[in-house]
Order: sequence, then structure tokens, then C-alpha cells
Amino acid sequence: MSEQNLIHLKAPGCWINDPNGFIYFQGMYHLFYQCFPYSTQWGRMHWGHAVSRDLVIWEHKGIALYPTKINDRSGCFSGSAVEHNGKLYLFYTGVNYTEEDPDNINCCINDTFTAAQMRITSEDGFHFDNIRDKITVIPPIEDQSIGCKNHTRDPKVWRGKDAWYMILGSTAEKEGRVLLYRSGDLEHWTFQSFAEHHGWGWGWECPDYFEVENQGVLIFSPMEFLKTEKLYRAVAICTLAQFDETVCEMKIPDSYQMLDYGLDLYAPQSTIDAQGRRIVIAWARMPEAVEGKWNGMFCMPRVVEVKGDHVYFRPHPDVAGRFTRPIQDPSEAGKGGYLLRTELSEGEVFSIGGYALQYRDGKFCADRSAVFAGHDEIQCRFETPRLHNGCHLAIYVDSNLIEVYVNDGEYVLTNVVYGLSNEIRGDRYVLFAIED
Ligand code: FRU
Repeated sequence: MSEQNLIHLKAPGCWINDPNGFIYFQGMYHLFYQCFPYSTQWGRMHWGHAVSRDLVIWEHKGIALYPTKINDRSGCFSGSAVEHNGKLYLFYTGVNYTEEDPDNINCCINDTFTAAQMRITSEDGFHFDNIRDKITVIPPIEDQSIGCKNHTRDPKVWRGKDAWYMILGSTAEKEGRVLLYRSGDLEHWTFQSFAEHHGWGWGWECPDYFEVENQGVLIFSPMEFLKTEKLYRAVAICTLAQFDETVCEMKIPDSYQMLDYGLDLYAPQSTIDAQGRRIVIAWARMPEAVEGKWNGMFCMPRVVEVKGDHVYFRPHPDVAGRFTRPIQDPSEAGKGGYLLRTELSEGEVFSIGGYALQYRDGKFCADRSAVFAGHDEIQCRFETPRLHNGCHLAIYVDSNLIEVYVNDGEYVLTNVVYGLSNEIRGDRYVLFAIED
């Protein structure tokens, strides 16, 4: 498989979800992801694999991880990558269903599965020995005061000053939490502590902790976080948490931001880019396969910066910097889509192919109702918190994903859309595409 994608990595003719094992390794970006290769629906999880030299052109590399062990026989769930002594180490959650759904053995019933944290390595980032090289590093948790035997998953590993650290998403007594582990050798891990926040959903998925200029940031995806009738009650949020390595404890504050105010992005994962910036990428949830063929894609990588108590997410300069070809009409854009720049004044409306935008009551608002037909179960109208410096927009438009960066990354609002037209309604805007 050597299919190429531009700007946004898309599912290679199947189902994909979370980004996994995102890393710049041996001169290339590797992005693994949750994948069910046989269908456009979620199923027994494998890790798909794509690579890029520039974060713009992505090449699919097929399946990297697949179930082989008792502990991952029902799926290789999400996880992360680190480099150590020139080698790639992948950590992931292996699941084992105790009760398979007889009508679809790729799913379980009654939440009956166990979750173990597992590891596999690679010399070059491309070859994995799924039979001989996998080990279980943390068996299913037996002590329920620590966390749940099945809903504990998504190891994110990082190098601290004196040791390796792992953060896991988990749940106990119907509240979400993260578990923190320490290791000296990437093989033996000991539980250190947990951190939680009351009222933020029953279970937490895909935690990711990192520091940007000494400020700790925790990104995670709590389930049942939003109290809404609509789907997607699970959303990705970020907080200015602080991790104290000496005692291996994390403090989670009361305030949080949405990772993205379009609420479609989920399970974000960060890494360090070739220049040392902290960047994050996330899965765009899609209610329907495009042309019945593929389901799931990733947003553009975003650079994370913290100023005061606010986290900014800006389009990666290596990607944004490619939109240099001025065009007059969206039809002149190629496969990479186009960038639309504009500034709205209070009350002004704008439409991009049926996707309606407005600057209203000091907030940026979007309405995708006209380009999301048949999905009433999912929210269609979104808004950012109040803006303080006008409403300057950099909007990246792809056939099925619109990413709106408001005021240079103060807020981002990204939406999945279907059936976008080439018609733009609005004043004072400029369009750019990437060079062919
Ligand atoms: C988040 C998630 C993860 C899990 C994976 C399974 O979308 O539920 O917690 O590891 O997807 O595909």
C-alpha cells in the first residue's frame, strides 16, 4: 500500500480512529492509528501506519500491529511511542474479550474484557515482530482502589529527568482518573499515584501530559463529560496540570479548555517535531463513511503554546506555510484543499460551501446544518468563548473537514462536513492553495 494523502491523513479505505505512536523518528514522522482494516466500522483494533517527511504528504504503510497474544487477542488499543538508544518503543493497550458478541466477534458484550499494557519495539520504525517481540509490561489491574481491570488504557510514555513515566486513562467509583507509573528500563513499571477531578465524566481516555516552557499541560478525553442529549458526550479537553516528578504526583486544576470548539476532534496525541516544538494531532470523528468507502481522518498537526493561563493551538508552520498559491475560486484548489483568510465584524455572516459562519455577541459561531444532512443525533451549531481581539480567521477547507483558527490559535473550531460546495458567500477574503 503506498497511497498518498495531502494535508489531512485519511483512512485507507476502512475504519480508523485515534492517532497512536506519533513520533519524529530517524528523520521521518511516523503516525500510527487505531484501525479496523476490514470494514468502515469500528472492530478488532489493529495499528495502521503512515509516514511523512514534511507533515504535508502522508504515505500509508499498511498494518503495523495486530492481535497475536492472549492479552491483545481482541485488539491493540491506543498507545504511544518513544525513542531509546536509537530504537522505537511502542506502548499500547492489549484487550481480551471475555464475552464476544456472537453476531460480531470483533466486539464484546457486557463490557467484559481485560486490558493489559503492552510493548513492542522496532529498529527502523517500519518492521515489527508481532509474534516474538511483544511483551506485557502491566497486567490487568486487580486492585480496584487503583483503577479498573478493563477500562484502563492508552499508555502515553515520556522521558523525565531520571526515569520514564507512563500515564494511563482509567476509572474508579464512576469517576475518571489518570494513573501514573514509573520505570527505569521501559520494561518494569511500578504504580505511583493517581489524579482525578470530580464531575469530569466516568472514565478518561487517551491522556497525554507534557510541558511547554515549564508549564504542564494535560490533554485527555473524558467520557460522558458533556451533559447533552446529542452524541459525542465524550470530548477532548486540556488543563494546566502540574506533574511533580520527585513524588510522581499530578495536580489537576478546576479550569479547562476544549481542545477544539467544533467538538468533533477526539483522542488527541502530542509529540515533539523536528524543530523541538510540541505538536498535537487528533482524530476527526465521522458519523458516515465517505462514499461508503472510508471513515475517519486526522486534523492538521497543531503547535501547542501556553501564554498566561491560555493554551494556543496554531497550525503547524510547515503545513500552513505551504498554502502560498493565490487562487480566485475553490475549484482551483487541488487535493490539499485551500486556505481562506478573512476578518469578520460583529454580526457579519459568511458561508463556505454551505458551512455557515458568524461573529455574534463577541463569539465566533459555526453552523454545519446544511452540510451535515441526516445526522440530527450530532450537534450542528458551535461557538467559541468570547473573543477579545476581533475575529480574524484562517480557515483550512478540505472536502470533509473545515478547521477554523480564530485569532491566531486563541481558539480552534473544526468540523466534519459532507457535500460542501465551491460557493463562497461573504466579503473581503483571500484564498490560497498549495503548490502542485
Ligand atoms: C478512544 C478509544 C481509546 C481506545 C481506542 C479503541 O477513542 O476508545 O480509549 O484505546 O479508542 O479503539
